[in-house]
Amino acid sequence: MVSYVEADLAPVKNDGKIKLHGPEAFAGMRKAGALVAECLDLVDGMIEPGLPTQAIDDVVYDFALKNDAIPATLGYKGYTKSSCTSINHVVCHGIPGEKPLRDGDIVNIDVTLIVDGWHGDSSRMYKVGNVKRAAERLVDVTYEAMMRGIEAIRPGNTTGDLGYAIQEYAESERCSVVRDFCGHGLGLLFHDVPNILHYGSPGEGVAFKPGMIFTVEPMINLGRPQVKILSDGWTAVTRDRSLSAQFEHSVGVTEDGCEIFTLSPKGLHPPRRS
Ligand code: MF3
Ligand code: CO
Ligand code: CO
Repeated sequence: MVSYVEADLAPVKNDGKIKLHGPEAFAGMRKAGALVAECLDLVDGMIEPGLPTQAIDDVVYDFALKNDAIPATLGYKGYTKSSCTSINHVVCHGIPGEKPLRDGDIVNIDVTLIVDGWHGDSSRMYKVGNVKRAAERLVDVTYEAMMRGIEAIRPGNTTGDLGYAIQEYAESERCSVVRDFCGHGLGLLFHDVPNILHYGSPGEGVAFKPGMIFTVEPMINLGRPQVKILSDGWTAVTRDRSLSAQFEHSVGVTEDGCEIFTLSPKGLHPPRRS
């Protein structure tokens, strides 16, 4: 059975209880979320054909340190980069490297910054040069899917309502929802309960309660939902090599809905035409 605990009274570890956070946590998440959004805005101005993804990672690292933040992925389970850069058929956890971006690529940049202990976790899709219609449509569908999931977050609804909203929409657009990765509780921890599945049925799962903090980060494929992990132990790709896209926001449940902590200060989150 799921149980909830007042976060201030709980140990800072994943003990299976869902933490209900207070105003100080929301203030901390607001600050961490705003910083990661600013970082992703900064990356927006860099994206062009020929740019190695390592150059993006370098900018994320420098931005974090300059702003008294720590990239949460650095040293996380042996991961050595400040971001994940997932190009085309890479679903998530692509490792930055010297391979340059190419005209027509779509790339997800995922950054988690720790500010005063609080984790802001967000990702967006970026278009490199001129992107084909099919890729452009996938990016649009994925953003809309995330936002429909977020709109389902309110006390009275459940994680199943969120998953259903995403799955119904994505599949109505002839796309598929990746099952092997999910959103997660976060706060002073990077990955905490509950798991936020991006598929499901109305009324199932965990009831949303004010004070819950978690991510919504659907991965949507143009082809089939199956993924495999490459031999580097991280890079997840679509088995059928179809294109995959992802967006991610960190949110907190309020009395009548939710607050998005990672909104772009420049309004750059929604996809723009390439
Ligand atoms: N930021 C990712 C997430 O959304 C996690 C990346 S973990 C890493 O949860 F080690 F792959 F970087
Ligand atoms: Co996340
Ligand atoms: Co992330």
